[in-house]
Amino acid sequence: MENLHQQAIPIALVEADSTRLSAEEQHGIDALISHSPQLAGITIDALKLIQAERGWVSDASLHALSLYTNIPVADLDSVATFYNLIFRQPVGTVVLHPCDGISCDLMGAEHIRQCLSQQLNINTGETTPDNHFTLIPLPCLGACDKAPVMIANKQLFENMTEKEIPELIKALGEVSK
Ligand code: FES
Repeated sequence: MENLHQQAIPIALVEADSTRLSAEEQHGIDALISHSPQLAGITIDALKLIQAERGWVSDASLHALSLYTNIPVADLDSVATFYNLIFRQPVGTVVLHPCDGISCDLMGAEHIRQCLSQQLNINTGETTPDNHFTLIPLPCLGACDKAPVMIANKQLFENMTEKEIPELIKALGEVSK
């Protein structure tokens, strides 16, 4: 897990014409291509770059990336939909990823997910109306010995309890403002 106390990734303003890559995006993609022996090898990093700029990866973004790189849209889409951390629909400023792996579920993660859902008044996969939070459970986050866990805002929350959830949401809500 990288730096656990980084700020939330801000959702950049989506360019008016999101069917074209911005100059910045093109520059980033060019850099990836120059360092990759095979064009297809840039796919996941290129998608992450687009998401960092636009907050998520729309169909228009896939087409823009395809046009610029000549990687078929279908190939880009299959990679984008395979990776849980590439968002194919808009998400809130803070995406909550409570673990729904077996070890966490054995330690009460299902109840934690329910509490998060109740606290935010959204279901799994949904975003709060104020766009602050999206709830997307992920399978094993690689911290089973600290179950139940959640990743949000690049931070790993360990040994989660129902009691701490309101305070945790409040703190993450401040980050998202
Ligand atoms: S099952 Fe949750 S971290 Fe492994």
